[in-house]
Amino acid sequence: MRKLIIAIDGPVGSGKTTVARRVAALLGYLYVDTGAMYRALALKAQRENVALEAEDRLAQMAGETRIDLRIDDGTQTILLDNEDVTSAIRTHEVSQAASKIAVIPGVRRVLVAEQRRAGQLGGVVMEGRDIGTIVFPDADLKIYLTASVEVRAQRRWLEHQQKGDKVDQTRTIEEVRERDRRDVEREHSPLKRAPDAVLVDSTAMEADEVARLIVLLTKENKNPGNTATAIGV
Ligand code: DC
Repeated sequence: MRKLIIAIDGPVGSGKTTVARRVAALLGYLYVDTGAMYRALALKAQRENVALEAEDRLAQMAGETRIDLRIDDGTQTILLDNEDVTSAIRTHEVSQAASKIAVIPGVRRVLVAEQRRAGQLGGVVMEGRDIGTIVFPDADLKIYLTASVEVRAQRRWLEHQQKGDKVDQTRTIEEVRERDRRDVEREHSPLKRAPDAVLVDSTAMEADEVARLIVLLTKENKNPGNTATAIGV
């Protein structure tokens, strides 16, 4: 059976990571978290005191940086130049910095090329903002996952609580709106639904339900005449 390329895009807190991981596990596919690549590079820029507006320097840094994404027993590890930065990239500061460097075309060019290499053989679930529009415009199945801004901010806030980060709920919702604005309004590869992406609103759905729905859609995808968008209508 041919192995598919599944693209999952959507805004912060839409549940992409949990859902994409589960879909990959259910199908025995590779899981690629492209946001982690922007985050790892942002962390390096912060550590090396490179201004987030220094476009040429950051694009050059992207070309000189090694970022590896590993999954062992369902646990993801992110390596930045061979150093484990899995937790270090999940802070508030890195989230904001990642969305700032993600506007730089030279940075995107390098990371998109890596992402294409990682997914070119198929059998991959790749999540991000531009997977169905730019990275793999011919993906076999495209999902645009979203949820209300309140629910997305609540999910982010709970994640911070679980990690012991004391973050104000009002501030979390403001930060989610701010990142949405940067992701949607940027000139290059903005976050948007590809015309052929299936829109899934997870406001009132659990991650497991969404994952099962996507697996069902991949099966439908193999039957000509059964279009993915007809499912759930
Ligand atoms: O999915 P995430 O929150 O880990 O992504 C971090 C930032 O990286 C996000 O604000 C936007 C950017 N990003 C992007 O521009 N394109 C992608 N394919 C993935 C993430």
